[in-house]
Amino acid sequence: MADNEQQPAKMWSGRFREPLNKQFEEWQRSFPFDWRLLPHEVEASIAHARAIQAAGILTSEELLQMEQGLRAVTKLENIASHEHAEDIHHFVELELTKQIGDLALKLHTGRSRNEQIATDMRLFVRASIDKTLEGLNEWRIALIDLAEPMAKAFAIMPGYTHLQRAEPVYVAHWLLAYVAMLERDYSRFVDARRRMNFCPLGSGAIAGATLGLNRRIASDALGFTAPTNNSMDATSDRDFMLDFAQAASTLGLHISRFAEELTLYATAEFGFVDLPEAFSTGSSAMPQKKNPDLTELARGKSARLLGAATALATLIKGLPLAYNKDLQEGQEQIFDVADTLAGLFSVLPNFTRALTFRAERMRCAAETGYLNAMAAATYLSNKGVPFRKAHEIVGNAVRLGLDKNLELDALPLADLKQLSEHFQHDFFAAISLRSTVDCHDVPGGTAIDRVELALNEARTRVAADLADTPDSFAHQKSVRMKEGA
Ligand code: ARG
Repeated sequence: MADNEQQPAKMWSGRFREPLNKQFEEWQRSFPFDWRLLPHEVEASIAHARAIQAAGILTSEELLQMEQGLRAVTKLENIASHEHAEDIHHFVELELTKQIGDLALKLHTGRSRNEQIATDMRLFVRASIDKTLEGLNEWRIALIDLAEPMAKAFAIMPGYTHLQRAEPVYVAHWLLAYVAMLERDYSRFVDARRRMNFCPLGSGAIAGATLGLNRRIASDALGFTAPTNNSMDATSDRDFMLDFAQAASTLGLHISRFAEELTLYATAEFGFVDLPEAFSTGSSAMPQKKNPDLTELARGKSARLLGAATALATLIKGLPLAYNKDLQEGQEQIFDVADTLAGLFSVLPNFTRALTFRAERMRCAAETGYLNAMAAATYLSNKGVPFRKAHEIVGNAVRLGLDKNLELDALPLADLKQLSEHFQHDFFAAISLRSTVDCHDVPGGTAIDRVELALNEARTRVAADLADTPDSFAHQKSVRMKEGA
């Protein structure tokens, strides 16, 4: 299709005689969503311009003009409603032409949109990972900050298995379980970042650039570790998007578990936690309600994350090498993952900081329901009774307690002695709430010394992760500084 007044030329119009079907044209455009890649498209274009200048395609003045023109394009506002741009690559070419005339058309020398989109998406995902790492660290710190005073106050709650009261644990120990999940999430994102940080530029449409490009120039300019190894893979690989979405969906599952527990613990039935009013909503019908919308919505968001990971895996499966237009469909999934994570981290740390526990209710719940039965069996086994037998004897004691409506520590010693002669006066101290918790004195256990140590270690690890911020922070800062200069 040749140029006409209404529509600027496509990037590929030369071999076409017939105009595109209007509906198809509109339907296949990615600009309505890929416009948000603008800063990355421009950054990658500047890097490419430097590489083709080194290859003799541009003079140094032309490179300077091109860089200035491209920077001017990043300043454009409200671009999403642009009617003609097919995609972000087309948009930048059109706008750059407005800025610097025909010189703009030299920018596409030695490159293809296939490597461009692969590069833009890597830059987008890398920046999203870095934001996610920041969010994760902030939330880890909020959880540790919440746990620390709970440990100092020896706050104890029931621990559940099968959602039945099992053994008491320190509240701090429970909170640190989530910190442990987030540490693994952190390492999954760091790992994904390390694996994806390679530069597709120079891969061409499929077979590699037809110019003798020094691929290191663009790779270094964009803060990548090195150029990618194989042009067919580089132009069609979307593993890096899948890695990001999968790491996000696992994080989403952890967020959802936390949200579910908080929702449950905020019910009148549990009454362990007071939801902060600033993060709750009321009911338009029932005046008494304070609803846990934040935790419910957070639990719901995990479905989107899991959905995106599933959509991406399904998209990639079965694609022949190399680029296929199907891949365009992956972009919105990634944008949604990035937005969903950003939204979650905009509320989770502050919500966590605002939580207040009803320590008394938690303690009462931990003191009823024979949660010290395991400690009681351990008492007998310390007296030389084989654990299997001890388990049986304490089981009988629990049965007796149930019949008499008494907890183990309220059973008369005489009754206990009928079950085993090993029960002595010291039994009652051994099954007090504190002893019941503190007898779990192994690394990773809930004894108070272990919990305090675990708190310190969690703090040390988050401080190390904070100090070890990925290079792209530094890289992005230097790009911004150059822009400002
Ligand atoms: N908008 C396209 C995408 O997102 C850019 C790459 C187009 N390449 C092509 N051969 N049509 O995948």
